[in-house]
Amino acid sequence: MAGPARPAEERDRIVLRLYEQLLEIEQRLIPTGMHVFGRPNAQTERGDMLRMIASFDRPEVGFRSLPGQIAARLGFPEYQILMEESATCGERLLQRERVDAILRSAIEKLLAEDGGIEEAASLLAREASIPTEDSTGMLAFLNGLNRQLGTNSEVDELMRALRREYIEPGPGGDLVQNPKILPTGRNTHAVNPYAVPSHVAFQKSRDTIRRLLNRCLDERGRYPETIGMVIWGMDNIKTHGEGVAQALLLMGVVPKRDGMNRVTDVEIIPPETLGRPRIDVVFVLSGIFRDLFGATIELLDKAARQVAGLDEPPETNFLRKHVQQAQQEGLSWCDAATRLFSNAPGNYGTNVNFMVIGGHWDRAEQIGDLFVTRKCFAYGRGLEGDPAGTLMAKALSRVEVTYQNLDNAEIGITDVDHYFEYLGGLTQAVKQRTGERPATYVCDSLSPLVKIRSLNETVRLEVRTKLLNPKWYGGMLRHGFSGVAEIEHHVSNTFGWSATAGAVDDWIYSEIANTYVVDETMRNRLAELNPHATRSLAQRLLEAHGRGFWAAQENVLDHLHNALDKLEDHLEGVNRQA
Ligand code: BEZ
Ligand code: MG
Repeated sequence: MAGPARPAEERDRIVLRLYEQLLEIEQRLIPTGMHVFGRPNAQTERGDMLRMIASFDRPEVGFRSLPGQIAARLGFPEYQILMEESATCGERLLQRERVDAILRSAIEKLLAEDGGIEEAASLLAREASIPTEDSTGMLAFLNGLNRQLGTNSEVDELMRALRREYIEPGPGGDLVQNPKILPTGRNTHAVNPYAVPSHVAFQKSRDTIRRLLNRCLDERGRYPETIGMVIWGMDNIKTHGEGVAQALLLMGVVPKRDGMNRVTDVEIIPPETLGRPRIDVVFVLSGIFRDLFGATIELLDKAARQVAGLDEPPETNFLRKHVQQAQQEGLSWCDAATRLFSNAPGNYGTNVNFMVIGGHWDRAEQIGDLFVTRKCFAYGRGLEGDPAGTLMAKALSRVEVTYQNLDNAEIGITDVDHYFEYLGGLTQAVKQRTGERPATYVCDSLSPLVKIRSLNETVRLEVRTKLLNPKWYGGMLRHGFSGVAEIEHHVSNTFGWSATAGAVDDWIYSEIANTYVVDETMRNRLAELNPHATRSLAQRLLEAHGRGFWAAQENVLDHLHNALDKLEDHLEGVNRQA
């Protein structure tokens, strides 16, 4: 048995972990500025995109990921292993860096004006002994995407639409997951709900759920009996149903296709194959998902009821266990096995975002109550949004973990207020019913290595890569007025994670205050570009302090108050001139 780690080993381990975290921040794909309608992507953005696209196996075009090929040819372990083990093993870290550097140079060659496919292919042959015939296919594919990213006909297509001419249809989604979304400016269509989840989504989800449950096991010492899961429409469109696949796997079933290849049923994974208990899942569906995925709602409902009906012991089938408990407490079988909740028909959203951003709350309980009031309508076979407040409250009272799948590189959990209204709202609603905050996890399937992070870790990563990242705010500031508004939205959305889930560390607010308010040059620049948003930003920070989310230092508070006074004067001056 290994003895306790020696101090030097311990130090190396910590340094490696730190380095790994820095790499993670550095390599994360972030939007550097907003999309400008009609404008093609700049060369540097295209390079980042292409590297990410090349990092996934592309079964749709028959290519293996470039980092995968490079690692294999250099005799290194699989790239996935390099990514996973680089935090604990210096050799793996060096190998991973070598692979990344070769990939970077190859994409640079591909993009260089005097370069192209041949130059990139010979670099890969020289540096990683990849025969040119093995790389040219993928490089040609990337080159085609580069050309499409470098042109943009959105304005022309809009004009055609206004003239009532035909607009070619095309799939919507995330570029990295589905490069077929290019060219943009087409008539976006979504997805056939009977095709969800796709084979690829289901295979990928096996790994995701293994990681999610392992993380729960590591932290809790046992499997969670019930997971509260947020399911969105866009997410499942873009990923062809990863969220749905993950939910099915938690319950221990696989999708079954009929003669027309439509997913209309599920098959039970036998207990000996599953090798773990079936998890009870309480679903919170967005209004958009409800509208788009009627067939999938029936599928999930069917899965929950089939699993609840299995003759299995309570310790291996938590869903059945809870349904039986609820029946003993007097519920009918139908009610006891109801697991899908959404808005009343024709309604959308939780309104938690409006309550939080508008400051219309005194106690956190009002947030959880609003969430349930908006979302307590039951769906499934024979259920068309029936009011079910008591059932939902009961279901939430068993939730130990809340969870959402994060699907794309463009929108993270502080970019819009919808993540905190849903996952945060759910987390608060559960806390009120169980008496303790559930563990909250977010799945990040944006990079080739699927990661499960706690909500707090996700907030930190998001803030480091955006609000506190000069590259990100530099990009935003180039948009002037709207860029400052965007920065303010991020601060408010970060605040939303305090209000709903207590997931924001003190240092985050301190660093935001230092970056945008204490720094005089920055503060003046913001005030010049958009004094209203700058005032809101300072007010939001003071609100975070006032509500007890941030123990701000006195001198920082002074800065905030002073800045606010000056902004008020400035705005009054503007008004006087008007
Ligand atoms: C959805 O895709 O379901 C969704 C989009 C925006 C806000 C909430 C949900
Ligand atoms: Mg909605």
